[in-house]
Amino acid sequence: MVKIAIIGAGNVGAALGTGWAKAGHEVAYAVRNPQKPEVLAAVARGGDRASAANIADAVAGAAVVVLATPWNVAQAAIQSAGNLDSKILLDCTNPLAPDLSGLAVGLTTSAGEMVAAWAPSARVVKIFNTTGYNNMEDPDYNGQAATMFYCGDDADAKETAGKLAADLGFDPVDAGPLKLARTLEPLAMLWISMAFGGYGRDIAFKLLLR
Ligand SMILES: NC(=O)c1ccc[n+]([C@@H]2O[C@H](COP(=O)([O-])OP(=O)(O)OC[C@H]3O[C@@H](n4cnc5c(N)ncnc54)[C@H](OP(=O)(O)O)[C@@H]3O)[C@@H](O)[C@H]2O)c1
Repeated sequence: MVKIAIIGAGNVGAALGTGWAKAGHEVAYAVRNPQKPEVLAAVARGGDRASAANIADAVAGAAVVVLATPWNVAQAAIQSAGNLDSKILLDCTNPLAPDLSGLAVGLTTSAGEMVAAWAPSARVVKIFNTTGYNNMEDPDYNGQAATMFYCGDDADAKETAGKLAADLGFDPVDAGPLKLARTLEPLAMLWISMAFGGYGRDIAFKLLLR
């Protein structure tokens, strides 16, 4: 059982938290207002393994912290989290331009690397950004598990991240060091463009191995 704090109980936060609570983990939504109806609904979906608290309190009790906020508030959310020393920080953000036309950051850096700079004492893994929240609730495609790519610089943190992805039903794939977030964030843009360009949200990437 892993104690997980999820900063943000929106589409992504609630989908991940519900899946992990079902898988036996202890989930605390780290939110600005624990009484907000959306937060209460996410807690209810998680049953007795889910709770909500203010950001610093929820994060203090967790081994794994998930960043599931919009990109434009990511730095502020990390600052609200308090002490992240040695904690595993799973970065799900995509640095989307406000009109979703593309990425606001890329090529020579990435949101994942910027998150690591804002949280230097945490062990950052980029994960859960390359697919829609609907797939986080159900990554099964006719018996095939959708791939979940992740990257990071800490082997132990990546192992935990991969296991947490597998617990949701994903096929976890280690893409390499955190610098590879520069490729995973544009891959998310491909998913978004295709989902909103006619394919719909029931699409997911699969890595084939021979
Ligand atoms: N939607 C997807 O399918 C998807 C898939 C992969 C990755 N992502 C990425 O995941 C992130 C979250 O997306 P989402 O769709 O879950 O967004 P969302 O539904 O809008 O939820 C955002 C959450 O962030 C919280 N938040 C906003 N400002 C905050 C702050 N200053 N401090 C702490 N929490 C704050 C909100 O809480 P309040 O109620 O307090 O405002 C809300 O719970 C984004 O970076 C997105 O690009 C999204």
